[in-house]
Amino acid sequence: MKKRVGVLISGGGSNMYALVQAAKIADYPAKIVSVVSNKQDAGGLKIATREGIATHVVNHKDYATREEFDAALNAYLQTQNLDIIACAGFMRIMTTVLIIPWAGRMLNIHPSLLPLYKGLHTHQRAIDAGDKEAGCSVHYVTPELDDGPVIAQARVPILNGDTAETLAARVLIEEHKLYPAALAKVARGL
Ligand code: GAR
Repeated sequence: MKKRVGVLISGGGSNMYALVQAAKIADYPAKIVSVVSNKQDAGGLKIATREGIATHVVNHKDYATREEFDAALNAYLQTQNLDIIACAGFMRIMTTVLIIPWAGRMLNIHPSLLPLYKGLHTHQRAIDAGDKEAGCSVHYVTPELDDGPVIAQARVPILNGDTAETLAARVLIEEHKLYPAALAKVARGL
């Protein structure tokens, strides 16, 4: 039985699309059944609809606190009969209200070689530090931000003259390969 996956997005959804494409392969162990955004205008919602996937918005601006938003989001996710949640450019700090119910079943992709550069502006920070390489990590979500056990990583070189934008584009190509592989590994193990 393929594992049922819900994807959380806030933006363009290119990683979500990479998961959707991978899941079209016959022996892929998961299927993307729900795409949920905290933003009504997230570009990824249109892509998901075009792919025939159910979408839903829980707008964080409708809630006074992070905990209330997380409770509403979790309540929706619980209705979808999901095995795994994949955060893919979901730009919200999550509380235990959302994280604990999905412990061991919620993944995130982060654009750095964790434990380096948790949080935002990862590529600029790697360039500023004079690092020779950057990359991306897929990890389990735990209550500490960008801190859960790493499932898989991919590396790219940082080249002379790189800007945060050129480096982000190089890393994103690797994200689109890494996330489907990491999700498959987790789905097979559940
Ligand atoms: C990706 O680079 C992802 O790693 C990053 O946001 C981008 C989303 O792109 N995630 C984070 O920074 C999480 N803190 P996408 O919407 O095209 O997948």
